[in-house]
Amino acid sequence: MPFFAALCLRVLGIALLLYLPSATSAGLTKAQTDYILQCQGCHKASGTGMPPQTPDFHEYGNDFMHMQEGRQYWISVPGAANSPLTDGELANVLNYIATDIVEVKNHTPFTANEVRAHRGKKMTNVYEVRRQLATKLTVTSP
Ligand code: HEC
Repeated sequence: MPFFAALCLRVLGIALLLYLPSATSAGLTKAQTDYILQCQGCHKASGTGMPPQTPDFHEYGNDFMHMQEGRQYWISVPGAANSPLTDGELANVLNYIATDIVEVKNHTPFTANEVRAHRGKKMTNVYEVRRQLATKLTVTSP
C-alpha cells in the first residue's frame, strides 16, 4: 500500500502543477497578458514607468486620449508600434492602459483600424513630439 499511496500523491502533485498555472492565468484578459509580456518590463504594472526616460502614463494619458494627435502618438511610439502584437491586440492593450491603468474618463476605445492607420508612421523624436503635445495642452486648457 505505501507504494500505491506514494503513486497517488505523485499523481495528485502533477495534477496540481498542471492545474495551478492555468488557474492563475485564467483571471487575466488577453490584453493584460500582452501588456505584462510586451510592455510591463519597461512601463511597470502600475504604468508609472521610470520618468523621465520611460514616461508615466498617468501624466498626460487622460489628456492625450481626448486629442486626435495624442491618440496617434500613443499608437506610433516605438514600444507600441514595433511590438509583435497585431493591430487588434495592440488596440486592446492600449485600451487596457487607458481604462485600467490610467482610468481615462469617457475613453473612446481604440480599434484595429485606428491602429492600422497610424502604426506605420515612423517616430524617431518621441520626447520632442511628447513635449509639443504637452505644450498644446497648456495653450488650450483654461
Ligand atoms: C524596452 C522598453 C519599453 C517597452 C518594452 C515598451 N515601451 Fe513604451 N516607452 C518606452 C520609452 C523609453 C518611452 C518614451 C521614449 C521612447 O519611446 O523612445 C515609451 C513611451 C510609450 C508611450 C508614450 C507615453 C507617454 O505618456 O508619453 C506609450 C503609450 C507606450 N510607450 C506604450 C507602450 C506599449 C503599449 C508597449 C507594449 C506593447 C510598450 N510601450 C513597450 C519604453 C518601452
